[in-house]
Amino acid sequence: MKYTILMGSPHHKGNTAALLAPFMDENELMGIEQDVIWLYDRDIRPCKGCKACQDAKGSLGCVQDDDFQAIFDSIQTSDVIIFATPIYSWYCTAPMKALMDRLIYAGCKYYGKEKQPSAFFMKQVATIATCGYPTENGAGLWEEGLKRWCEHAEMDYLGIFCRRDRGRPEEFTGEDVETDVRDFAHALYIMVGHSM
Ligand SMILES: Cc1cc2nc3c(=O)[nH]c(=O)nc-3n(C[C@H](O)[C@H](O)[C@H](O)COP(=O)(O)O)c2cc1C
Repeated sequence: MKYTILMGSPHHKGNTAALLAPFMDENELMGIEQDVIWLYDRDIRPCKGCKACQDAKGSLGCVQDDDFQAIFDSIQTSDVIIFATPIYSWYCTAPMKALMDRLIYAGCKYYGKEKQPSAFFMKQVATIATCGYPTENGAGLWEEGLKRWCEHAEMDYLGIFCRRDRGRPEEFTGEDVETDVRDFAHALYIMVGHSM
């Protein structure tokens, strides 16, 4: 079983990273292969909406030359995609949004001369988020958007782990939160295993 973890926080030692560390550690203990991609360290340009990808066959067909192909290739060899992001303006951060736009168009060629199947059919998706507002208010729109993104691409949405940032960094590294994140990793493992 392989996970691609898309890390959308700009902070290598921030709140999202604090949740990701025990999550990845638990996955490793369960024997899951993981490819973590720090999106702020990659070149991911925004989609131009040119739709050149729509009629490409057997390739992404994107006109832009950046790190998109390498990230797409990682996803293609994975069973699960984890979107780890702080909430910025009620959604994921900008590099993650740029990537999602590129994936949903080049990976789902529904609008060309011939409709092609989703490249992500049956892949599984979950998210780890952090936000300043109470979690439902802070991350609710992001979760809803991600669910619809999955539905459009024929992927299975598995769930969210979200923790509120009250300005006390120690709340992201305590035993309680670590136990909760590890439980979330286990729950995902069981859900993914059942559907394979
Ligand atoms: C530019 C910016 C925008 C933010 N927008 C929101 C928001 O819309 N809703 C929310 O609940 N929190 C918002 N936050 C708070 C962050 O989501 C929160 O502090 C998060 O834990 C930061 O994670 P990090 O340490 O991984 O960067 C925002 C923070 C920043 C810097």
